[in-house]
Amino acid sequence: MSNKQPIGIFDSGIGGTSIFKEIHSLLPNENCIYLADSINAPYGNKSKEDIIKLSIKNTEYLINKGCKIIVIACNTATTNAIDYLRANYNIPFIGIEPAIKPAALNTQTKAIGILATKGTLSSQLFHKTTDLYSEGIKIIEQEGDGIVQLIESGQLNSNKMKSLLEIYLKPMLEQNIDHLVLGCTHYPYLIPMLSKMLPSHIKIIDSGRAVANQTKVVLASLDLLNPSSENPKIELLSNSDIAVLNTILDNKFNVTHLKF
Ligand code: DGL
Repeated sequence: MSNKQPIGIFDSGIGGTSIFKEIHSLLPNENCIYLADSINAPYGNKSKEDIIKLSIKNTEYLINKGCKIIVIACNTATTNAIDYLRANYNIPFIGIEPAIKPAALNTQTKAIGILATKGTLSSQLFHKTTDLYSEGIKIIEQEGDGIVQLIESGQLNSNKMKSLLEIYLKPMLEQNIDHLVLGCTHYPYLIPMLSKMLPSHIKIIDSGRAVANQTKVVLASLDLLNPSSENPKIELLSNSDIAVLNTILDNKFNVTHLKF
């Protein structure tokens, strides 16, 4: 394995670019391949078996492209498939899970909200983590049904989105949460809208920076950080409409449409 090989990153769609951006900003020398499986989005309503099958397809694609590490930039795929992937592929995996721990440790109102997909909220891994940190704390879980579809279809800042969020936030506000955990990598793109809708004392938490840090730690421990200061090769691949992916990345990268 050479340190010049790319970091492979995949998501059910364009949301994992929120993680790609953190990785690219922390590790600007690294070559990266980002895979948006948008044709199969959302993963959140699929069965565990289907999520594993799609995660295998994405993993094998990235391994065949010569990636040195795979970042699963999707909470739904991590919570349902990372154990299977780690057991079956000889490559390091970094996953992402809702950041319950910092919210649970810092809440003053003893109530935190979690917005995530059905697939994440119903996973064993998520239950294991919530069990660890839920003592004395109310955790208000909310499925973000429909949010991923709106983002994937370019309706991030729409009235439809605002109405959905109003419905999803209401029970959390009634329970006086002071932390909102974003448990899906599409949701950081909602932060501008959420910040306007939520009282200012509510802290919005996402795990993007932590995932980038962890990627750096693991690469360093394996002596796989790319020391080169040449411009890195960044490939962004989508098997669906590339226009939305381009927009969400402010047209800053080359996006290619590819069947996979
Ligand atoms: N970005 C994925 C996640 O973090 C979205 C899941 C979906 O496709 O429903 O869970």
